[in-house]
Amino acid sequence: MSNPASPPAVGVLDDRPPLTFPPGFLWGAATAAYQIEGAAAEGGRTPSIWDTFSHTPGRVVEGHTGDVACDHYHRLGADVALMAELGLKSYRFSVSWPRVQPGGTGPANAEGLDFYRRLVDELLSHGIEPWLTLYHWDLPQPLEDAGGWPARDTAARFADYTTLVADALGDRVRYWTTLNEPWCSAFLGYGSGAHAPGRSDGAEAVRAGHHLMLGHGLAVRALRAARPTAEVGVTVNLYPVDPAGDAPADVDAARRIDGLANRFFLDPLLRGSYPADLMADLAGVTDFGHVRDGDLATISTPLDMVGVNYYSRHVVAAPVPGAEPEPYWRAPSCWPGSEDVRFVTRGVPVTDMNWEIDAPGLVETLRRVHEQYTDLPLYVTENGSAFVDEVVDGQVDDVDRLAYFDAHLRAAHEAIEAGVPLRGYFAWSLMDNFEWAWGYTKRFGMVHVDYDSQVRIPKSSARWYAEVIRRNGLAAQ
Ligand code: FCB
Repeated sequence: MSNPASPPAVGVLDDRPPLTFPPGFLWGAATAAYQIEGAAAEGGRTPSIWDTFSHTPGRVVEGHTGDVACDHYHRLGADVALMAELGLKSYRFSVSWPRVQPGGTGPANAEGLDFYRRLVDELLSHGIEPWLTLYHWDLPQPLEDAGGWPARDTAARFADYTTLVADALGDRVRYWTTLNEPWCSAFLGYGSGAHAPGRSDGAEAVRAGHHLMLGHGLAVRALRAARPTAEVGVTVNLYPVDPAGDAPADVDAARRIDGLANRFFLDPLLRGSYPADLMADLAGVTDFGHVRDGDLATISTPLDMVGVNYYSRHVVAAPVPGAEPEPYWRAPSCWPGSEDVRFVTRGVPVTDMNWEIDAPGLVETLRRVHEQYTDLPLYVTENGSAFVDEVVDGQVDDVDRLAYFDAHLRAAHEAIEAGVPLRGYFAWSLMDNFEWAWGYTKRFGMVHVDYDSQVRIPKSSARWYAEVIRRNGLAAQ
């Protein structure tokens, strides 16, 4: 169904010129374990924080859980065949920690590792490069019970788990991502509580963010020790943050949110320090006493690439005394110390998540990382949109999603022309899946999933993306 405020349909793209990407550009699609696998209690897997959270009434829309999800665990062969049909050059998936190391400590679960071995072998046999993410939010529940990410020991547990996976899959996986979006794990998981484990404490969220990054640094070292030739990186979700107006208070609000959303992670990971202004903003929340000597050196262990997930832009304004925050950012807030900053909507077209569509923001984001932080190769490890889809005569003509991809790929190309060493792009998502607190009510897939029958239908955007991959670029329409 077309949203009245949605971007132009394909026919309106007629005058856009063809674009070619650099040779060898890595075209992919992404998913995550808990969002697609199902088989939550099979093969020795034990609960993660997302099993507990989704089974807690009131946490996920309509009480949806990932128990079955897309049943990918049982449909691996057919799903990889579908990827091959679309011509994907790479597939970004995540390993479920409680599937390969039930409980989060001790030896590996051979049955869990076998599932990923089969997945990787199947990908390789179709010429699809596996891109493995070690942590896409599914912390084993016993580690949460022992303190979760606010506890320092969780970082060491993550490094041990990394070694198990590297030993088992390192001979066949070249590209490794440690964490997916530590901002979400820390500030939605422990700040607003909108994500698992659903705790709400600003200081704990800041500690969680630090220990996630410490776990990342330890995992990079573990990977280097186990597999010296691996290409290792991390994925962060970044937003341009604009002030709503020129007033100094609005500009300051943007500085604060940029600190929490972007620089909280970029600076430690790529510069080895926390920004001084961010630490000052957080002074009422934490004294950063959890940061020990040597942590920032570990966190900034050199990488081979950086993954950027991009969806939208934040526009913010100074607090208005007594005003209610926007419902999406309802208290308790995911912005500790800056809870009263207002998030402003500009009235531009939005997706079904209510996220504003802002392709130029991708150019800005990629240029910023390259120009201010690093010369490393960059990858867009996620980009995509949810829209309400309708199946008509066995087809899904998702023109809005297709237009979103088109606009953002043009932005990615513009970034390359501006000198950004962008080496690949992963569409989020290969298929519709469990969209966290939104359950199955939001569809991001290029492939439609009927959750009753598990039938997959490639949408128009999937067919279009296959053609983009085949041409290594965008055709003149
Ligand atoms: C990102 C997540 C991914 C998916 C998309 C829509 O924040 O990494 O799992 O939920 O958003």
